[in-house]
Amino acid sequence: MNRWIFDTHSHYDDEAFDQDRHELLGSLRDKGVGQLVNVGADMASSKEALALAKQYDFIHAALGVHPSEVADLTEADMDWIRSHASEEKVVAIGEIGLDYHWDEPEPAVQRKWFLRQIQLAREVQLPVIIHSRDAAQDTLQIMDEHCDWSQGGVIHCFSYTVETAKIYLRKGFYLGMVTFKNGRKLVEVVKEAPLEQLVLETDSPYLTPVPNRGRRNDSRQLTYVVDAIAQIKGIDREEVIRVTEENAKKMY
Ligand code: NI
Repeated sequence: MNRWIFDTHSHYDDEAFDQDRHELLGSLRDKGVGQLVNVGADMASSKEALALAKQYDFIHAALGVHPSEVADLTEADMDWIRSHASEEKVVAIGEIGLDYHWDEPEPAVQRKWFLRQIQLAREVQLPVIIHSRDAAQDTLQIMDEHCDWSQGGVIHCFSYTVETAKIYLRKGFYLGMVTFKNGRKLVEVVKEAPLEQLVLETDSPYLTPVPNRGRRNDSRQLTYVVDAIAQIKGIDREEVIRVTEENAKKMY
């Protein structure tokens, strides 16, 4: 029986797709991709995500502002997200979080808007899509204090240790699997995590998986991630696709 790949994290509003967006989106089904979530990274892309979701029945939208884009956020932006969060095609608040890899905006500003968007997710009762880089401790602290864990969510592009993974897994969160470029640590995480708590994601047009790194990414490349998970867990690829698709539907 045919199973469909569910890409839980993509950015098809990105200008990298301006030349062939509709052609590409129209071809995904033939390549085994059933549904996807287009994730907002700032206010403009959140609006475009919603527009794409209204245009294509297999696309869902997440509304939210990435930590690197929060410098100019206002309460009016929060109001916009709140007022559209209950629309049928909106499945999550994200991507939100902390990224200390970059100095800008300063950590205090990032924390303020992460906390604010966590509260918003709680208010509108949607799961969260968390972007967290070089900020494991602060991310966990803010989530512990403000997140409604029972609404669920995903740690996108999981890049931390097995110990940190276990904390989120115990809370019932999902771990997003993008690519296996930094090998060993992520392999350990995948071994440790139950398949029932992994979801597939591309972050298209970014983070193209091995063997195509350096080129523009799109959801068709998830077959490589499926193969990697299947190999690590010693199961067949159909099972990886089936279970991660069920996980995505449960989470959103
Ligand atoms: Ni992303």
